[in-house]
Amino acid sequence: MADERHSDGGSDDDPATDDAASDTPTSHRSGEPDAFGSPYRLLSTAVTPRPIAWVSTLAADGTPNLAPHSYFNLVAHDPPHVVLGSAGRKDTLRNIEATGEFVVNLTTEHVLKQMNASAIDAPPQVDEFELVGVTPTPATVVAPPRVAEALGHLECRVAHLLELGSGHLVVGEVVHVHVDRRVWRDGRVAPELLRPVLRLAGSQYGTLGELFKLERPSWDAPT
Ligand SMILES: Cc1cc2nc3c(=O)[nH]c(=O)nc-3n(C[C@H](O)[C@H](O)[C@H](O)COP(=O)(O)O)c2cc1C
Repeated sequence: MADERHSDGGSDDDPATDDAASDTPTSHRSGEPDAFGSPYRLLSTAVTPRPIAWVSTLAADGTPNLAPHSYFNLVAHDPPHVVLGSAGRKDTLRNIEATGEFVVNLTTEHVLKQMNASAIDAPPQVDEFELVGVTPTPATVVAPPRVAEALGHLECRVAHLLELGSGHLVVGEVVHVHVDRRVWRDGRVAPELLRPVLRLAGSQYGTLGELFKLERPSWDAPT
């Protein structure tokens, strides 16, 4: 099993180019180890695409930290809540536990390289804003800085922390949202302006493909 500081729970190899992938079992029963010692490869390539939270936090001593988390999503909007999953105990999780606050910077095409650079297993005393060359800018409500170059930011306070075996779930209430005017059109964020990056398998990513509309059926007025 890969060192948890380097990975997000399993091998980060690209299954599409890895011979060992052909031996990967295609089913997994909870609690039983698979060929890789965990169902990471099977599940992280099946549950895709995932958005990427580029999470900024502050250590208890004030050191800023940045790290991507694709175990991430919006799970409620009234009041708004997001979830983050940490595979093992990393600086991000420790900082969130210590301070109760974090910022999700949106991962889009134009910050892709810096986002990836921040996945490095740097020691806790390293300021990862400086390391990857992005600009810290103050948040409105929480203490951790935002990444100025990101096109959107969710300022969050911890609502719940849950242990899931070796994993940890952070439920954060979104207390302030920033969205760059450049991605705002017709009263909402336009995906083709935001250009989010999608996590697929290991080090494989995607960008938006064809966009289309699908109206939802209504019982009273079927389409
Ligand atoms: C795109 C991407 C998504 C990742 N998602 C997660 C994740 O959801 N959970 C996790 O624990 N690690 C994830 N990782 C790995 C962490 O970013 C990596 O272990 C990082 O060094 C943790 O930094 P920290 O110790 O400063 O928190 C991801 C890495 C990349 C490149």
